Amino acid sequence: MDIPYIIVAGGKGIRMGANLPKQYIEINGKPIIYHTISNLVKAGIKRFIVVIDISYIKYLKKVLNTLSADIKYVAGGQERIDSVMNGLKALDEKDEFVAIHDSVRPLISKKLINSLHAKMLEGTFSGVIPALRMKDTIKVTTGGVIDKTLVRTNLRRIGTPQVVKVKDFLLAINKIGEDTVSLTDDASILELNDYLVGIVEGEEEAFKITDAYDLKIFKILLGVEK
Ligand code: C5P
Repeated sequence: MDIPYIIVAGGKGIRMGANLPKQYIEINGKPIIYHTISNLVKAGIKRFIVVIDISYIKYLKKVLNTLSADIKYVAGGQERIDSVMNGLKALDEKDEFVAIHDSVRPLISKKLINSLHAKMLEGTFSGVIPALRMKDTIKVTTGGVIDKTLVRTNLRRIGTPQVVKVKDFLLAINKIGEDTVSLTDDASILELNDYLVGIVEGEEEAFKITDAYDLKIFKILLGVEK
């Protein structure tokens, strides 16, 4: 199934505390975004739309041109959703589905890709996303005091890739207002407009590298640090 992948890499990665966006931190001589796209290529993905701060284009082209994939580069936006929207503009007219993936989730497997695509092909859903169960108890706090405890069995941690039906996703995007700050993932846009979003079992390894601890875990998993 030839689904293009929008790789969102337009962020500044300030939570990492590094002097460059986290997707450009080099591990084993290659930036994290290279590891992400390379693993997707290994999983059979052939087309990418990479959304970036355009000042990195020369560097990135040089790094990614060793991969056998069709890669388009587009400029990122202010918020993640703006970067996604810029990516959508680069789709081919014939594209029925698109996947959106964080540039900083490098350990993505062929198994997860296949189950996401297969679920999408069932035809029931406007979006399919990877979901993981909660290990900890989750409580809501207000001003440093526990407000309430949520029912853990109903909660899921959601990652990427998120595969969406292009037609439904564009219709949903056009209906959301200006207030996009609370939209921390793409499927929310579908949910807000009552489109059905399905889940597949996520994988812990596809975690998002957000802070220095995550970076350490990634290095350990790659075998470059103990
Ligand atoms: O900040 P966060 O970790 O949620 O970012 C997730 C992904 O979205 C990252 O790959 C980041 O580069 C991307 N992003 C983007 N444009 C923005 C903000 C974040 O492409 N304006």
